Formats: sequence, structure tokens, C-alpha cells
Amino acid sequence: MMTVVERIKSREANVVVVGAGYVGLPLVVETAKAGFKTTAYDRSTEKVELLLKGVSYIKDIPTATLEPLVKSGLISASTNPDVLGEADVIIICVPTPLNKTKDPDNSFIMDAAEMIAARMKRPQLIVLESTTFPGFTREALLPRLAEGGKDGPKKPDEDFFLAFSPERVDPGNVKYFTHNTPKVLGGISSKSLEVAQAMYSCFIEKIVPVSSTDSAEMVKLLENTFRAVNIGLVNEVAIMCARLGLDTWEVIQAAASKPFGFMPFYPGPGLGGHCIPIDPLYLSWKLKTLKYDARFITLADNINSSMPEHVVTLVSDALNDRRKPVRGSKILICGVAYKRDIEDVRESPALDIIELLHRRGGEVAYTDPYVPSLRIGDHVYKRTAIEDAGAFDCVVITTDHSNVDYAKLVDRAQLVVDTRNATRALRATHGNKIVSL
Ligand SMILES: NC(=O)c1ccc[n+]([C@@H]2O[C@H](COP(=O)([O-])OP(=O)(O)OC[C@H]3O[C@@H](n4cnc5c(N)ncnc54)[C@H](O)[C@@H]3O)[C@@H](O)[C@H]2O)c1
Repeated sequence: MMTVVERIKSREANVVVVGAGYVGLPLVVETAKAGFKTTAYDRSTEKVELLLKGVSYIKDIPTATLEPLVKSGLISASTNPDVLGEADVIIICVPTPLNKTKDPDNSFIMDAAEMIAARMKRPQLIVLESTTFPGFTREALLPRLAEGGKDGPKKPDEDFFLAFSPERVDPGNVKYFTHNTPKVLGGISSKSLEVAQAMYSCFIEKIVPVSSTDSAEMVKLLENTFRAVNIGLVNEVAIMCARLGLDTWEVIQAAASKPFGFMPFYPGPGLGGHCIPIDPLYLSWKLKTLKYDARFITLADNINSSMPEHVVTLVSDALNDRRKPVRGSKILICGVAYKRDIEDVRESPALDIIELLHRRGGEVAYTDPYVPSLRIGDHVYKRTAIEDAGAFDCVVITTDHSNVDYAKLVDRAQLVVDTRNATRALRATHGNKIVSL
């Protein structure tokens, strides 16, 4: 019988990606492009039906790329967990959110592990890509897989090989994609790492091996904590500059002229997306179990989470200067995706800003070229045409999509609160109606 590595090298290995979302779907495409028969296994019938038709639901993956791979039979999709039993390689990309008390929720990974363990018939490489805390793969996933299913326990490094590889997908990035972003890999043993390296080197240009799954898990949390803390710092700089009567953006741009020892980060209305606001809290949670208080993370979380409130204060002050209260004012939120040029609204600070203004009695509407409709709680908002900006007392730029004509927007608007510096070139001529973060 061929080993897993031999099956990988000869491209006879069947790949199953568990969770075909923002991380999983690009992986499905990459492994298929590398010649592996790949199945997207997802709980969502809606996603699976679209995939079977070759239709993409993720902006970074064009249907034109996906469709030929589906038609040629390299990609298929299923909601049936039995596909896991036919796999040689399983890559887990399910969500890892926080629960109501802001603690890690690893239940999606454990559900996937349950399905895998119950169906393991031949040696499999299993790689976890979902973000989690240091120690999770070794302490929770490994024992669950080793417990096996009805046919008894399974041996690590014989019946299955296990590794962790943090996903670094950056939605909307036009330079770095899955294949050309270096990939960190850690195994539960050198044997598992070797098998995982054999697989990933088939479709990733550069592999960065580390000594353990714990270390690979920590790499991801360092990367995202680095961003959360630096954004927290620069958001506080924006608050300080407002008190000092200084232009935050001018200060940052000038500091960025230093060719060494400084890296610019930019303030904004708050953190969004599935990673930066969440992942650092996985790390601080783990450290709490070791009786250590991760102070930088807590402070950055406090500052970043307070930004929507700060933006609402800017809006309220700007309206007040025009003798208008928030209550009854018509306010247009421009951009609800959590960052530029993408359609994802998960954890978007624009949603908090809408809610806060709504609670203060504002008549809030939104516009976003990538988001046709928006649900916040029970309320469904229909997109307003950006051409109607003039009918609003205030326009708040919360996301700076690059296909928006900001000169036209400012021309039409009565008042603009810009949280992204999208109107930098217009402040000299239209300064009387622009307030910036
Ligand atoms: N989105 C990003 O930019 C990004 C970047 C780096 C890392 N990550 C991490 O990657 C992981 C996945 O994130 P995502 O953004 O792709 O999530 P997503 O919500 O877009 O996709 C997850 C998919 O998993 C499916 N799913 C959930 N439980 C399942 C199960 N038990 N079996 C089968 N399918 C299941 C869901 O239906 C969904 O389609 C998370 O841990 C996240 O932190 C995300």
C-alpha cells in the first residue's frame, strides 16, 4: 500500500477541506490547481449547491477560476461527512469565534474532529488552519483524533499525521494570495511535520517550518496581536491629536518618512473582520489560565472597541456646530464592509456606529458598492444610492472603498465625517464641511 507521502507526490491523494469559507475556498482552489482531487465539505447546503454549479460566493475567487476546476472534476463539494473517510489529506478551516463572555469557542473544530475520527479508515494527514490558542492542537485535537471511532483508538504518526498551519489570507490583497504567502507549519512530531511539508510544498511557494504545533499557533496570535496593539496605539494617537488640535494623518505621514525604526499604522472607526478583533483574545484567555494578565491585549481591545463611540461623538459635535441634534438628523454611513474593497461585514465597526446613532435617534441609512443589503439584529437596511448623499445632514465615511468618487461625494454632501482619510486631497478646498478622525 502506498504511504500518504507517496500518494501526495503522485497526486493520487484525495483532499477534503472542511469549511469552504474565506479561508477554505481559496485552499480548495489551490490544491485543485496543484492537481489534487479536492472536495469542499461544508455544513451549508447553500454554499455546496453554489460550488457544485461552479459559482463562487467569495470576491477574491472569481467564478471564472472556479468553474473550470469544477467542470473538470478536480473540485467537488458535499454536505455529507462520509467524504472525510475517503480523504488522504484533511484541512480544517472552520470558524473559531468568541462566545458571549468573549472566551474562545472551539466547538466547530471539535465537531469536525468528531466527524473525522468516526470515519478514519486509512492513514490521513490532518491539518488545522483555524486560528486557536497555543496548545489546542496538541491538548484537545490530538487526543480526540487518537480516541478514534467505533473501530477503536488510532495511533498518531501511524494512523494519522497532525499539524497546525496558521492561515494568513488577506481578503482584497491583490499581491499576496494563498500560493505566494509564506506558510508556517508545525507538526505534533517531526514525522507529522514531514508529511505536512510534503503536502503544502505542492501548492505553496515557501514553507516556514517551526518546532511544534504550539509554536505555529503562537505565530498567528503574535501576528494579529501585533496589528491589534499597533492599531490601538494609533487610535489613541488620533484621540490625543483631536485634543491637541492636530491633524493625525499629517503627523503619521511625517513620522513615516523615517526610513528606519518606524512602521505606519492608521487609525479608523474600530477593528473588524474575523481575525484582528478576536484572535488576541484567544491568547489572553490562554494566559489567564496560566495566571498571567496579557495587559497590552486588554488595553488595545479597550481602545479599539471604544472607537465607534468616538466616531459618534465626532458626528454629534459636527452636527451640533450646525445647530442640529443627532435626533432626527439624516445620517448616511458610507462603507459598511470591515475594510476597503471587500464585501465582508463581520465585526465591522460601521455596524456599531449605525446602532449607536440609531439609538440616539438619528435616521441612519448606508451605502456600500459591495453590500446590497444589511441586517443588524431585526432591522434590515436597504442600500441607499451614493448619488443621494446631498439629502443627508451628515455623511460618515467608515470604509474607504477605492471605487468611490470622494470628490463627488464631498461636493454633494452637506457635512462629511471622514474616519479613513479618504478626503485628504479635498480638505484644503472643502475644509468647512469635512471633519476627520
Ligand atoms: N477570513 C479571514 O480573513 C481569515 C484569515 C486568517 C485566518 N482566519 C481563520 O480561519 C478560520 C476560518 O475563517 P473563515 O473566515 O474562512 O470562516 P467562514 O465563516 O468564512 O467559513 C467557515 C465555513 O465553515 C463551515 N463550517 C462550520 N462548521 C463546520 C463543520 N463542523 N463542518 C463543516 N463545515 C463547517 C461554515 O458553514 C462556513 O462555510 C477561522 O479560525 C479564522 O479565524 C480567517
